[in-house]
Amino acid sequence: ADFDRLLSAAGDGLVVASNRQPYRHDYGDDGEVTVDRPAGGLTAGLDEVMRRVDGTWIAWGDGEADAAVVDGDDTVAVPPDGDAGGTYTLRRLWLDGDEVQGYYYELSNQVLWPLCHAALATVESCGDAWADYRRVNEQFADAMAAAATDADGDPLVWLHDYHLALAPRQLRERAGAGPTLAHTWHIPWPSWDTFRACPNRDALLDGLLGNDLLVFHVPRYCENFLRSADRGLDGAAVDVDAGTVEYRGRTTTVRAAPMGVPADRIREQAGSAEAAGFRAAFRKNRGIDRDTRLAVGVDRLDYTKGVVQRLDAFERLFADNPRYRGELTFVQIGTESRSAIPAYADYQERVEAAVDRVNDRFATDDWRPVVYTTDMISNEGLAGLYREADLGVVSPVRDGMNLVAQEYVAAGADDPGVLVLSDQAGVHDTLGEWAVSVRPHDTNGFAAALDDALSMPERERRRRANALADGIEDDDLDSWLADVLSAVAGVASADGGVPTR
Ligand code: G6P
Repeated sequence: ADFDRLLSAAGDGLVVASNRQPYRHDYGDDGEVTVDRPAGGLTAGLDEVMRRVDGTWIAWGDGEADAAVVDGDDTVAVPPDGDAGGTYTLRRLWLDGDEVQGYYYELSNQVLWPLCHAALATVESCGDAWADYRRVNEQFADAMAAAATDADGDPLVWLHDYHLALAPRQLRERAGAGPTLAHTWHIPWPSWDTFRACPNRDALLDGLLGNDLLVFHVPRYCENFLRSADRGLDGAAVDVDAGTVEYRGRTTTVRAAPMGVPADRIREQAGSAEAAGFRAAFRKNRGIDRDTRLAVGVDRLDYTKGVVQRLDAFERLFADNPRYRGELTFVQIGTESRSAIPAYADYQERVEAAVDRVNDRFATDDWRPVVYTTDMISNEGLAGLYREADLGVVSPVRDGMNLVAQEYVAAGADDPGVLVLSDQAGVHDTLGEWAVSVRPHDTNGFAAALDDALSMPERERRRRANALADGIEDDDLDSWLADVLSAVAGVASADGGVPTR
């Protein structure tokens, strides 16, 4: 895709804003700087985009506590030296401890996250957190307005996710009609019947309707948003078929664009010498025989990811089908996430307990049914593991999109592997037809689906794997970016008004 052309049709430059930064810098006492990359599909995917499109990315600069070090050091060029591709500017916002608590831990991750994933019983009451959320959104709006002013002409400002729902309206108040504002919401938008439980729901809708374009991963979420705006906001004129909301003198266009992965790069990584070395070493170090079949799951340790339900299903599979004992190992890679939140810490414990339970029940002297690790694994190692696995198991109880399913397909399992996929993931809307679908809470059905997937004849596996590979190549990361940018160009050329596609 011709990004420069699409980008210049959309605006004069690109300013991206997300809560999470793509690189985290730690400044040692001796002046040494170490850089690492946080977990999560959003930042990894957007970083790929930004390497190709020179611009500014604004994010919370977590990690660097020492004010003396960070003073006057709020921008850096990334990726760090040595990485492939171009560089761009990362501008960090330094938040204090109370702001992080209220804005990130409480409002974003204990109210909006569970609410949007339809887990109302997990939503925590919020008091002052709302004021922190508003204030931090204002800091983002200030930074975006400054970056937009520094850019030539009227740039495209592209916001991301549920941490920044108020910022579009706040930015509009600061920057006027000039910049084009687009916002991608990477998690589900729930039905009105769920969303109506949201504290401050009017302000959230109003904030998001400061955008020219609002993008979700799948049409279901667009429809839920449009109906929420229709039911929730007096004075909003909503056209569900056209995907538009007119409110406070401005039209917001609502579109679906499913995010993809850099399929070519992942395939290359999976075929690298490092990947091959990792595969062999992983089996050896974890005591997995060379001819034991593998199923693999890779997740942030988040209660939406369905890891506990997945372990229940494997337990049932081994209980009902003794022929898999000694012949199949389920490898679960977990990444610790948001551990300061009790619901997350509890979840990590529940996962560990479920792993121990299954292993205690079935393990023998030379075989373990479940291998579980939270070790950091390189991209090459992970791609290698995907290629090694007969099954890729992606079974969230609710998930905006899910890029792991696509990464598994992109890596291209040797023996064509089978994707076992929850119908609750956004990506099921695009890939579900060629996956083996599961409902994560239906333990018996899930176990039967694992059995089906493990006994599927090679011809059928190949047929599905080819269709899946075509699907993720057609809808890869570049095509997602092109979709978003052409939707932006459509609203920009219509002068903030009529949708053109
Ligand atoms: C999800 C969200 C992202 C977030 C990521 C990791 O993918 O959509 O916005 O960055 O989880 O979570 P964290 O809280 O560590 O940023």
